[in-house]
Amino acid sequence: MTEPLTPRDRLIVALDMASRDEAERLIDRIGDAAAFYKIGYRLGYAGGLALAERLAASGVKVFLDLKLHDIGNSVEEGVQSLARLGAHLLTVHAYPQTMRAARRGRDSVPGSALRLLAVTVLTSYDDADLREAGYAAGVADLVASRAAAARDIGIDGIVCAATEAAAVRAVIGPDRLIVTPGIRPAGAASGDQKRVVTPAAAIRAGADHLVVGRPITEAADPRAAARSIVSEIAEA
Ligand code: C5P
Repeated sequence: MTEPLTPRDRLIVALDMASRDEAERLIDRIGDAAAFYKIGYRLGYAGGLALAERLAASGVKVFLDLKLHDIGNSVEEGVQSLARLGAHLLTVHAYPQTMRAARRGRDSVPGSALRLLAVTVLTSYDDADLREAGYAAGVADLVASRAAAARDIGIDGIVCAATEAAAVRAVIGPDRLIVTPGIRPAGAASGDQKRVVTPAAAIRAGADHLVVGRPITEAADPRAAARSIVSEIAEA
């Protein structure tokens, strides 16, 4: 069952802070301007899972960007724990064994709202990096074949750059989620992101959720920055 997404639900604020305290202060400043937060390696390994549990218990949605990949049994049990914690989104690498195990873990928790996202090929990889890692396929082919595997295994969505969203949508169909980082409001600094698009362009490219970090977390007024991105989403 999927409820319709409001523009605010489409915005996911990346909490890439070094501590839970820092993240809590930012969440306070953003207030009701956002209702979905992403926790990745940095905060996840520094108190972020306890924060995720608190947020989920208070009705705020949490995306755990933990990019899991291990033997099936470990992935299954890990995902089970994260589903019990109340998270709404979780990333795993798009290896078939890993994705099947993740589904088993999630499906074993009755009533879990957790939706699984696959990472196809990390966007820091180009064809040469894949060759060095032992793959014969190039990035575009591997993204497409892993997206197809994710679809066939019943994964709920894909994380990808907005520039890949149309190709991924063609593979996974209309019902699965596409979540895209690399978003910059017009005129914002791109930081270390090489390929950035505006919130409106990402929505038009077919993204369901946008992950936005520094344009909000480093803004003088994070609440106003979040509100302005939500209005841009609403207009698109
Ligand atoms: O601060 P910024 O908006 O660039 O943050 C983007 C977030 O999305 C970070 O948490 C980053 O790890 C994540 N991400 C990304 N690019 C990818 C995959 C994930 O920026 N290709």
